[in-house]
Amino acid sequence: MGRLVIVSNRVPDPRERNKPAGGLAVGLADALRGDQSTLWFGWSGRQVEADADPVPSLDTHGTVTYATIPLTPTQHRGYYQRFSNAILWPLCHYRLGLMDYARADWQQYLEVNRMFARVLAPLLKPDDIIWVHDYHLFPLAQALRELGVTAPIGFFLHIPFPPWSLFRALPPATALLDDMKAYDLIGVQTEEDAQNLWECLRVEGMTDPSRVVACPIGIDPVSFSEEARDAFEGPEVRRLRESLHDEPLIIGVDRLDYSKGLEERFHGYEKLLIRYPEHHRHVTYLQVAPVSRGEVEEYRLLRRQLDETIGRINGAFAAYDWTPIRYLTRPIARQTLAGFYRLADVALVTPLRDGMNLVAKEYVAAQNPDNPGALVLSHLAGAAPELDEALLVNPHDSDAIADALHLALTMKKEERKRRWNILNNEIRNTTAGSWARDFLKALNRTRKTSVG
Ligand code: ADP
Ligand code: G6P
Repeated sequence: MGRLVIVSNRVPDPRERNKPAGGLAVGLADALRGDQSTLWFGWSGRQVEADADPVPSLDTHGTVTYATIPLTPTQHRGYYQRFSNAILWPLCHYRLGLMDYARADWQQYLEVNRMFARVLAPLLKPDDIIWVHDYHLFPLAQALRELGVTAPIGFFLHIPFPPWSLFRALPPATALLDDMKAYDLIGVQTEEDAQNLWECLRVEGMTDPSRVVACPIGIDPVSFSEEARDAFEGPEVRRLRESLHDEPLIIGVDRLDYSKGLEERFHGYEKLLIRYPEHHRHVTYLQVAPVSRGEVEEYRLLRRQLDETIGRINGAFAAYDWTPIRYLTRPIARQTLAGFYRLADVALVTPLRDGMNLVAKEYVAAQNPDNPGALVLSHLAGAAPELDEALLVNPHDSDAIADALHLALTMKKEERKRRWNILNNEIRNTTAGSWARDFLKALNRTRKTSVG
């Protein structure tokens, strides 16, 4: 097998395995724990003024060489903040009202994709197989093909893909879809996404439906469950446990993003306190929500709104010795997080839309099999079809969230165990490793078919 070349906007810092970077970086890093020789190309996370193409910095760790480049402030704004995160992100999460289109941003997005292709092409070797990730880089394969690259190129979309009736609201929708035809294989998280994308690509004249596949990403459940067991004995979990005085804990862990349904979730928790007052002074809800994309307007507004909502709920319900919501906007170490999941009686994962949602899978992996917690999960998360033994809720329905929380907090151990065993089997069946292997096998097959 030739070398694997991964391209993504966000590249994890190999020296900081403990820092969160979102589902893409976490899932891919877990998938790369084999012995496959890999080049991982993407943005360094830095901005530098420049008037020529950047020279990539190379950094090798084990079998993976990281090749990263900075962006100029203009590129960062047009390509990352604006077209990727203020146009494509809301559109793909079914939030057309938040899409803030400007043609100049589309042009900058195309420009940066072409620049990525120009800098990457000289690093490629004849037997490479290329795997591009996520919405920042939809046009990359076409840009590489224009430079004469003939290697197989696959694409994986980590976020949802909407139906044509919605996607066509994007002014350059057809140009973008047309460029996507340059991929040999496109993977998405769910059957629903696959149908939607296929519907769009068919409009653009693609004829072979087998080039779009649903291939859900997973985690590394064995190592995550070990981390949770170790962290459970550590000082952070001990401090959290002592602060709870044997009372139940609900946990939420999400980037501070409007797609995660945080505002709606807090309303659900408020409804729990209103309709089930027996939980007053007992239950604690810990929400960890590290700030994300803070330069994008909509994210700044959300942060202010959440500060207000949490302040209001705590002000209304707190007692002098009880705070209903504890709220952290700093990231915490992954291992500590694993221990917190294990301690929590309930995980509250209620995105309004989510490509997959790895937090739901991590919570399951972290549980103690003898006394597992309960998962309350949005039926609109990509993880829901696999994790349908969770307590599924509609994230827009605060009363449904309250009822599911009450059920979770009062559920008998036998029922928790029954559900958890099924969920745990699911996350052990499709892991980060099997996801990458399955996708790459299918991509390799496309090479054989086109050669032979
Ligand atoms: P998204 O990719 O949209 O951020 P996911 O749930 O798929 O959503 O992935 C988020 C990843 O980031 C998970 O692996 C989660 O553990 C990690 N993460 C999120 N918040 C934190 C945090 N505060 N500290 C550490 N890791 C975090
Ligand atoms: C989601 C996206 C990723 C992205 C991550 C974090 O998981 O699918 O592509 O890397 O969020 O967002 P950021 O903008 O910080 O890279």
